Amino acid sequence: MTHFLTTQDWSRQALQALIDQADQLRQNPINDQLRGKSIALLFLNPSLRTRSSFEIGAFQLGAHAVVLEPGKAAWGIEFEPGVVMDGDAEEHITEVAGVLSRYCDAIALRAFPLFKDWSVDREDRVIKALAKHASVPVINMETIVHPCQELALMRTLQDHLGPAQGPRFGKKFVLTWTYHPRPLNTAVANSALLIATKFGLDTTLLIPDEAYRLDPQFMAAANTYAQETGADFDVTTDIEAAYDGADFVYAKSWGALPLYGQVAEEAKLRAPFQHFIVDEDKMRLTNQARFSHCLPLRRNIKATDAVMDADYCVAIDEAENRLHVQKALMLALMGPDRA
Ligand code: CP
Repeated sequence: MTHFLTTQDWSRQALQALIDQADQLRQNPINDQLRGKSIALLFLNPSLRTRSSFEIGAFQLGAHAVVLEPGKAAWGIEFEPGVVMDGDAEEHITEVAGVLSRYCDAIALRAFPLFKDWSVDREDRVIKALAKHASVPVINMETIVHPCQELALMRTLQDHLGPAQGPRFGKKFVLTWTYHPRPLNTAVANSALLIATKFGLDTTLLIPDEAYRLDPQFMAAANTYAQETGADFDVTTDIEAAYDGADFVYAKSWGALPLYGQVAEEAKLRAPFQHFIVDEDKMRLTNQARFSHCLPLRRNIKATDAVMDADYCVAIDEAENRLHVQKALMLALMGPDRA
């Protein structure tokens, strides 16, 4: 069974095929290759882009998407094995996965980490439990990684910078931490790091303090990808050095993992770093870089109005590309030529 839980399970070649197919679907958006097929979209957390793009994408391919919000308009789900279910959850993922596998041709899930214990959340148990019990492909709509966002980011980057020059892409990619009033999920940052290094971009991770390094499993993967492609990968707290010569700047805020679940303590740590906002002065240091963000974005906190409204801001393009890449993904997993 082929799932799409993390891009780490997929080769660069297979991911590039999805990105190329997305371009074809952008040019010819409507067909009925998934006519009669269904996908269940399980949202344990809010969404604007992911929900809209999956629902509309399924419709444009002739499929039906059923949106379920466990704990709201659907029964709450228990994901841990062997639990005495005397809490809020009304049913177990074993039955949920079994039932939806009978109705649907794929199941997609958004399940953010719980922000209590990173040693637990880093194992990504919830989506793994769904994949274990499903007999149809499972798609990750954001857990501790956001692989659909990765596809959209790489589609957007190639739209604006052109294709890779070889194993080493030949462009500089900067992933910058930004301030936010509260600690956010590391998923998009983990994912940006994975896809940039996998595609051989010379990648700089800009953080305000060592406490904002990403989890070792993603740092190690990034190092491995960089070695395989011959690209550079470095981590810095030096804003000017990071932006210098960048071709693509990607911004995201995330919480410091050493203070995971300690919101008040983490707030004190991040308070001095509001100057990590992406502004025109920083963008002037780049090689006329494009700027993007996964959205949602708090203006004048993460990036200034001037940056968000500049021609070099491609965040809306990236959001549009969610639609095209996810249609390519649904075709790959649910279509007539599925793996
Ligand atoms: N980027 C993203 O996943 O957006 P939503 O949270 O609105 O789905």
